Amino acid sequence: MAETSEAKGPRHVAVIMDGNGRWAQMRGRPRLFGHHAGAKRVREVVEACPALGVKYLTVFAFSTENWKRTQTEVAGLMKLFRRYIEKEQRALVEAGVRVRFIGDRVKLEDKLVALMDELELLTAGNDLIHLTIAINYGGRNEVTRAAKRMAFEVQAGRLRPEDVDAETLARFLDTHVLPDPDLVIRTSGEARISNFLLWQSAYSEYEFVETLWPDFTAEEFGKIVKSYAARDRRFGAVRV
Ligand code: FPP
Repeated sequence: MAETSEAKGPRHVAVIMDGNGRWAQMRGRPRLFGHHAGAKRVREVVEACPALGVKYLTVFAFSTENWKRTQTEVAGLMKLFRRYIEKEQRALVEAGVRVRFIGDRVKLEDKLVALMDELELLTAGNDLIHLTIAINYGGRNEVTRAAKRMAFEVQAGRLRPEDVDAETLARFLDTHVLPDPDLVIRTSGEARISNFLLWQSAYSEYEFVETLWPDFTAEEFGKIVKSYAARDRRFGAVRV
């Protein structure tokens, strides 16, 4: 994959991959069939990033609320994540993709966490595109964990409460090494944030599309990314 840059294009795109279940149900198949179809789309979108100048891609794979689904679906998704990492590992390393995971790992099974750690380590030297996968991720959970870690730092005397500002808190977030997303895309026609990157998307542009995630192509991704350049981002300031 060759690296090119696009003037004014989004550097960091985050995606809420929604609609897998409905896509499967419309075909009379179990919901997991939709998740498997959805997983295939991730590779296509990752591969489209360099030519579009997108350096960072963050995808929402499993939320802190998704545990409420049936045991079959949750177990199937966890197995899918394990298989995905095992299957894609080599291609990701060779394609120059640096993979990171965000979210609370405490509730995840050891086998999966070991694979996540391994993939992060194996791709640590890559820099062409930074793919972040959110598993057991929730924005409130992330900010709460960050606040707790910060409180421990204060208690240990390593941080003075009067020095705490927004940048200090951001350093304790899972995303501390990532820029904030410029653009957040949600598929499947729902216009909600659903606890995704709450802190980080304060000034992001949002794009809600009707397409169900398993039907979302690199072409549609490219169109949305290109149309972003026409937007006027002011970050609360007035136009000059
Ligand atoms: C939301 O659709 C999707 C999920 C909860 C799972 C997302 C997982 C993948 C796309 C596959 C794995 C990805 C990686 C990176 C390994 P939904 O089930 O809520 O759909 P619905 O709203 O139609 O029910």
